Amino acid sequence: MKVVTIGGGSSYTPELVEGFIKRYDELPIRELWLVDVEEGKEKLEIVGALAKRMVKKAGVDMKIHLTLDRQKALINADFVTTQLRVGQLDARIQDERIPLKYGMIGQETNGAGGLFKGLRTIPVLLKIAEEIHEVCPNAWLINFTNPAGMVTEALLRYGEHSKVVGVCNLPVHMTTSIAGLLQVEKEDVHIEFAGLNHLVYGLHVYAKGKEVTQEVIRRLSDPNSQVTMRNIAPIPWQPDFLEALGVILCPYHRYYYKTKEILAEELLAFQSGTTRAEVVKALEAELFELYKNPNLEMKPPQLEKRGGAYYSDAACNLISSIYNDKGDIQTLNVKNNGAISSLPNESAVEVNCVVTKQGPVPLAFGELPVEVNGLVQQIKSFERIGAEAAVTGSYEKALVALSINPLVPSDELAKSVLDELLQAHRKYLPAF
Ligand code: G6P
Ligand code: MN
Repeated sequence: MKVVTIGGGSSYTPELVEGFIKRYDELPIRELWLVDVEEGKEKLEIVGALAKRMVKKAGVDMKIHLTLDRQKALINADFVTTQLRVGQLDARIQDERIPLKYGMIGQETNGAGGLFKGLRTIPVLLKIAEEIHEVCPNAWLINFTNPAGMVTEALLRYGEHSKVVGVCNLPVHMTTSIAGLLQVEKEDVHIEFAGLNHLVYGLHVYAKGKEVTQEVIRRLSDPNSQVTMRNIAPIPWQPDFLEALGVILCPYHRYYYKTKEILAEELLAFQSGTTRAEVVKALEAELFELYKNPNLEMKPPQLEKRGGAYYSDAACNLISSIYNDKGDIQTLNVKNNGAISSLPNESAVEVNCVVTKQGPVPLAFGELPVEVNGLVQQIKSFERIGAEAAVTGSYEKALVALSINPLVPSDELAKSVLDELLQAHRKYLPAF
C-alpha cells in the first residue's frame, strides 16, 4: 500500500507518521512518499529525516521517500493526502493582518483571509487532482488543505477527479472534548454533525446510546468548560443563547456569533505582532529546531500547541476505513447529494458519513434547523462564489464573495481589502 503526502515538508508530518505507525497492523503502508516544492525543500529534508527515524524506532516496514517530483511520486499511489500552504506562513500573516487593518476579522479560513487562502490554493489543488486522475486514477485524494470547505467545493465542482474527501480534525476534537466533559470514553459518544467545514453543528449528542444533547449544552454554558482548539480563544458562549439555540456549536462559530469579542482580541494581537499566524510562525521555527535533533525519534509534545493537533486521527481513520471496508461513521467533507436538503446536491458539506471501500456516503439529515440554516446557506454561497472566482480569476466574483460574507461589514471596505490582498498575494494568483 502506497500513500503520497503532498506538502510533506509541513511541520504536521510527524503527526501523520505517528498516526500511520500506531495503526500499522491494520494499515500496512509500505511506502510513504513525502512530496514538496523547491521552496519547501529544506523543511522536507528535516521533517523527512525525522519521519525516517520515527519509523525505524517503531520497527515498522514503511519506506519513506522524499521527492520534489510529484508526478513520479504519484505512480501507483493508493491514497494521496494534501496538506500544503501556498505562500507559506508569510501569506497567512497577510491574510490575517490586512483584514484587521480594515477592522475586520483576520482569519485563515473565514472572511477575507479565508477567501484569499482559497484563491491561492484552489488552482494548485485542481492541478493535483488532474495529475492524480492521469497517473493514479484509483487513488483517493484526501485533502486537509484549508479552507477545506471552499477547496472541497472547488474540487467537486471543477475537478477532474471524483474520489475526493475533505478532512478536518474539528469533529474528532469536539467528540473527544465532549466525552471529557461527560466523563465517558470518546468511543461512547456519538455526535450527529451536519453543516460546513469550520461551521459544523452538533445536532444531537448521544452517550452510550442515550441522548444527552441538553446536558452537553448545559455543560458548555459553563464559562470554565469551553470546548475550543488551540487557535481559537475560549471566549464563553452566552448561556441563554446556547440553551435557546438547542444545538452544539463548534469553536469557529465564535467568529460569527461573537464577532465583536473575537475582533477585540485580534486587534490586540495585531498591535503586538502576535496574530495567530505570527505565533504559529515562531512555533514552527521552534518545531523545526527540535526536528533537526538527530536523537529525536517521535512527535514532540510541542506539536500539540497547533490547532491541527491530532488531525492524523481523522486522516488515518478515514484511510483505514476505506482500506479495511469498515462501514463506520466519520464526519467528512463530501458531496451533499441530498444529505442536507436545504443545500445544493453538488456542494461540499461536512456531515456524518458511512465509510466503506467505496468511500464515504453521507447520512441524510433533511433540512437544517431554521435557527442555523440561514448562516450555513450564506457561507455556502460565499464558498461557491469564492471557488468560482479562484477558477475563473474573476475580480467581480471575488468582490461579491467578500461583500456577502457576514464578517465583512461594508461593500466599500470589501473592495478596499480585496484590492490590498490582491496586491499582497499577486505572485500566488496567476489567474487574476
Ligand atoms: C484547526 C483546524 C485546522 C487548522 C488549525 C489551525 O485544527 O481544524 O483546519 O489548520 O486549526 O491551527 P494553527 O495552529 O495553524 O493556528
Ligand atoms: Mn480544519
